[in-house]
Amino acid sequence: MKLTYPSKVYLNGEWLKPEEAKISVFDRGFLFGDGIYEVVPFYSGKLFLLKEHLDRLKYSLNEVELKCDIGDFEALILKAIDLAKLNQEDGAIYIQVSRGMAPRTHYFPEKYNATVLMYAYKTNLRGFQQEFKDVVVSNDLRWHRCDIKSVSLMANIIANTEAKKGGFAENIMIRDGFFTEGSHSSLFFVKNDTVYTHPNGKFILPGITRNFLIQLCKNNAIEIVEEALPVSALDEVTEVFITGTTTQITAIKNLHFPDKILNFGDEIGKVTKRLQQLFSEEVKKQTGVDLS
Ligand code: PDD
Repeated sequence: MKLTYPSKVYLNGEWLKPEEAKISVFDRGFLFGDGIYEVVPFYSGKLFLLKEHLDRLKYSLNEVELKCDIGDFEALILKAIDLAKLNQEDGAIYIQVSRGMAPRTHYFPEKYNATVLMYAYKTNLRGFQQEFKDVVVSNDLRWHRCDIKSVSLMANIIANTEAKKGGFAENIMIRDGFFTEGSHSSLFFVKNDTVYTHPNGKFILPGITRNFLIQLCKNNAIEIVEEALPVSALDEVTEVFITGTTTQITAIKNLHFPDKILNFGDEIGKVTKRLQQLFSEEVKKQTGVDLS
């Protein structure tokens, strides 16, 4: 899909053309990456798991003491979809809150007005059931607060650029011998018909799709264990998949290590397929949109 700019963006109370939307060079988002973001999906214009995304946004803002009233965000999100004429399309809302403009100091300034940016964009959210992708394995170079959805994403973008250069769909990361997650997706393994994923905490983002999937497993008698998988246990793994707002549930065919390639069959595994089906059914229930 060709990447383009949205026709309108929301910036601090105004809806502007992107070329008219300007922030200060002293905005702390620009100087320090001192900001928080969210990406909320919509199917045929219908928002999915909005409350969960807004709750995570509140959590991240709180964790870094970034004061911003998000009471009107739901209305702004709906307006963003409307203005972009995406009421019948699939897409996502990008939301970013930074600590605004202040003379440069390493500590949080006492006085500031948060900078709020928001826009809707079209993206392909269909056909994930047919994808069977290769990913590259890399070291997790990130900090120890990956639970905060910070705009400071240098380690993620370095890792994902390596994946892109190698022609891979994503990179998945290892910290201290255990798999954590992808550069912009959550990571799952299937071993003995049980689904494994890294526990929430400081080393992964609490993915909204991840948390939703765990609930789906629990509601449908699929064994789910929130336990980090050591690299040494890979021999017993039969299926691998990644999840995320724009990834949904994507099956992984090959893991590429620097010195070897591990293959997970010629067809998408049965547990992954079942979860994709349950996910689509739940999206239909909640939004009325048929993804199958
Ligand atoms: N990324 N882990 C990381 C590091 C992520 O950046 C993301 C999402 C996820 C999946 O979370 P969710 O299911 O809530 O989308 C996991 C977004 C989409 C992004 O950075 O664009």
